[in-house]
Amino acid sequence: MPGFEIFGDEERKEVNEVLETGVLFRYGFDQVRNNHWKARTFEKELAEKIGSGYCHLCSSGTAALSIALAACGVGAGDEVIVPPFTFVATIEGVMAAGAVPVFADIDETLCLDPESLEKALTPRTKAVLVVHMCGSMALIDHISDFCEKKGLILMEDACQALGGSFHGKFLGTFGKVGCFSFDAVKTVTCGEGGCIVTDDPKIYEIADAYADHGHDHVGSDRGAEGHMIMGLNFRISELNAAVGLAQLRKLDRMLEIQRAHKTRLKEALRQIPGLLFRKIPDEKGDSATFLSFLLPKASLAAKASGELSAAGVDGCFYWYDNNWHYIRQWDHIRGVKSAAPLPLTLFETRPDYQNLNLAQSDGIMGRTISMLIKLSWNSEEIAQRIDRMTAVLRPYFYRC
Ligand SMILES: Cc1ncc(COP(=O)(O)O)c(C=O)c1O
Repeated sequence: MPGFEIFGDEERKEVNEVLETGVLFRYGFDQVRNNHWKARTFEKELAEKIGSGYCHLCSSGTAALSIALAACGVGAGDEVIVPPFTFVATIEGVMAAGAVPVFADIDETLCLDPESLEKALTPRTKAVLVVHMCGSMALIDHISDFCEKKGLILMEDACQALGGSFHGKFLGTFGKVGCFSFDAVKTVTCGEGGCIVTDDPKIYEIADAYADHGHDHVGSDRGAEGHMIMGLNFRISELNAAVGLAQLRKLDRMLEIQRAHKTRLKEALRQIPGLLFRKIPDEKGDSATFLSFLLPKASLAAKASGELSAAGVDGCFYWYDNNWHYIRQWDHIRGVKSAAPLPLTLFETRPDYQNLNLAQSDGIMGRTISMLIKLSWNSEEIAQRIDRMTAVLRPYFYRC
């Protein structure tokens, strides 16, 4: 991660093909587009790659979440169980749909803890929106069983986990719908982009229409299309899709590099007695975009994170203090600071976001540091990184 590190002739070729036709719109213009359908081709190749029935490419991962929630019929009055560790977009998407996010704890997978779901359940719960954070997976089999037993819709925010899998099945394909992001810093980037995947033809049909003002995309005469529902514009341009298409074709190579880098780092850091790694339910399916490890105490993790940066180990994140990814700093979300009025149910029934008891999540996130795995590192850079990390981290395990 991220895919922009390996832009090359492949991306330029795809983009130039679009520029040569002048058709930046993903629909129509059949006579002049010289048979280039970048968004459509991306959708076909991604669906095939991850074994999903359908894919709809859209303008961002955030858009994908809004589309997915709409397609699953989640809206005002509904509650959606979410984790407190995610990018804020997950929560914003639920609120923008008029639904109420209800937080459950994470476990040492850094994703929703199946054991914590029951506590978050109310008669209004409609869906569980699991987030596969930092390239690896939740205990998705347990979460899926829970949803089935309780009659809930399982949705996956796999925005950070393209290419990850659990026992051979790709992340994003366990739920009724899965969402991916192809923003500027993701493993596969379109510059800006996202998609939903599903096996359900009805969900796909609604998603495809909702993302384009409700157009049903039947036939090539845009003026003659039907509109079964209202929608918005979450369309991707052909230029963004073209970049993503070239990137998608490099996914296997990217995963191979990330996994090799991560394995080498992890093997070396295992030599530090007591250093714990994030729990990964299926190591083979880890997309390996991040290496996450836990220190014995929150105060030590905060300090170690600063020392790693000072020692030149770039790309380390102490999420606990970060205002995008962990609930503690989400004042705008916890205060439900919306520019415009939201459905009353969001105010009448929502949990008290200022006083949530997420002690288990705090305990884990307070101790966790994640390091981004870069594609461009060479062998010497990795060796140097190992030396620097070992020098910083080892003393923490003598002290306690
Ligand atoms: C877990 C998660 N969900 C949703 C998103 C939103 O994706 P985008 O930036 O494409 O809108 C992101 C982006 O970082 C993310 O990490």
